[in-house]
Amino acid sequence: MTAYLVIKGGRIIDPASGIDGTGDLLIADGRVAEVNMSGGLAGPEGTAVINASGMIVSPGFVDLHAHLREPGFEEKETIATGTLAAAYGGFTTICCMPNTNPAIDSQATVDFILAKAKAEGSARVLPVGAVSKGRAGRELAELGELAAAGCVGFSDDGSPVADAHLMRSALTYAKPLGLPIMDHCEDLALSGGVMHEGWVSTRLGLQGVPSAAEETMVARNIQLAELTGGHVHISHMSTAGSVEMVRQAKARGVRVTCEVTPHHLTLTDAWAAGGQSAIVQAGILGDGMRPMNAAYDTNTKVNPPLRSKENVAAMVQALADGVIDAIATDHAPHTVVDKLCEYDAAAFGISGFETALGSLMSLVHTRRIDIPTLIAHLTWGPAQIIDRQRTGLGTLRTDAPADVVIFDPNEEWVVDVDDFVSKGKNSPLHGQTLKGRIVTTVYGGRIVFDGKAVAAE
Ligand code: DOR
Repeated sequence: MTAYLVIKGGRIIDPASGIDGTGDLLIADGRVAEVNMSGGLAGPEGTAVINASGMIVSPGFVDLHAHLREPGFEEKETIATGTLAAAYGGFTTICCMPNTNPAIDSQATVDFILAKAKAEGSARVLPVGAVSKGRAGRELAELGELAAAGCVGFSDDGSPVADAHLMRSALTYAKPLGLPIMDHCEDLALSGGVMHEGWVSTRLGLQGVPSAAEETMVARNIQLAELTGGHVHISHMSTAGSVEMVRQAKARGVRVTCEVTPHHLTLTDAWAAGGQSAIVQAGILGDGMRPMNAAYDTNTKVNPPLRSKENVAAMVQALADGVIDAIATDHAPHTVVDKLCEYDAAAFGISGFETALGSLMSLVHTRRIDIPTLIAHLTWGPAQIIDRQRTGLGTLRTDAPADVVIFDPNEEWVVDVDDFVSKGKNSPLHGQTLKGRIVTTVYGGRIVFDGKAVAAE
């Protein structure tokens, strides 16, 4: 690791400290040493220099929601491949979900993940502990033990906390620990389908999942957060109705936060239809020029499902309004076998790290949100939810960990899943042209991804 690194002449955007302008950033011994908006920063002799002119320089992205699959499902992803994919996507801190085998419900499993991440990781890994033992939804996990081991929140993700009494207990116990319950909001009595319930599901003959399957659980969770004073975080929120409930709850002072994924901000349910089908309507990312000439694309199968245009528009508006706290990838890698099958049989999930920035930039290029708002939701927004100790995640303040991403907002590139370093090639964006690309990622002062150097090889 170079002890000193100076990033010169980029547009530095750090929403946490209100910085947005051209300047230089000096890194020393893994920490941010100085940001100088007048330029001219130079370290001691031997300092490495990155010329960032024309680029955006931001705090490394913080992802509240990712699946690293280890332990248990190493054929889909490992901590080494997942964190490398994160680095390629500009993420320097990722929260890993507990639907592993074993589930993250004991100190031993947390210790294993943290040790692996330290030895093999290209990004900081913060485990999310299970709410219930084995994620079985019956008995609370040892939340205190998990918090002490280093968990930053609790979730049974992949499954909801279906039992309202268990959810009440979880919020009550997590409150003094100062940690959120991050709930996968899905009413299992209403779901059971494979895509959003609407015109496209009818046309494809696939069973739909109504928006209400999410919204009834969001409503319940808000009521229980109000009852207990605990912090509920709504994971991968996807409907207009959920947005309205969170907006009103926040106005009443309920401790509720929420996240949205890049795919729920940019893709509609029409993407489920593959090929150049006439029913592929214009999504934000384009007019449905699909790479596969097939009746459907299982890479669009995700939970919660890609929603209607109206829901997508509401999510984008909520991002601009500040109702949404964070953008989280829900990076969910799967094997080819998991996806190369009928839509009904395919696994839910999208491999999201490596396309997140490029797809989100479509919102900027179409003037739906501005770059500082986007960056805030990828950095300081999520950091505030998990970094209770204020260790400096998600900001470029002096002495913060030197987690920095440099990206070109205008570079166009074509997504090729064969180029993914993630083991998960399951992306509906294969073949799409995206505008906006990660150039360099620095984690703790170490360059973990250098796109330009890789390109020059
Ligand atoms: O699409 C999804 N995939 N949604 C989830 O909630 C779980 C995730 C997974 O683990 O594959």
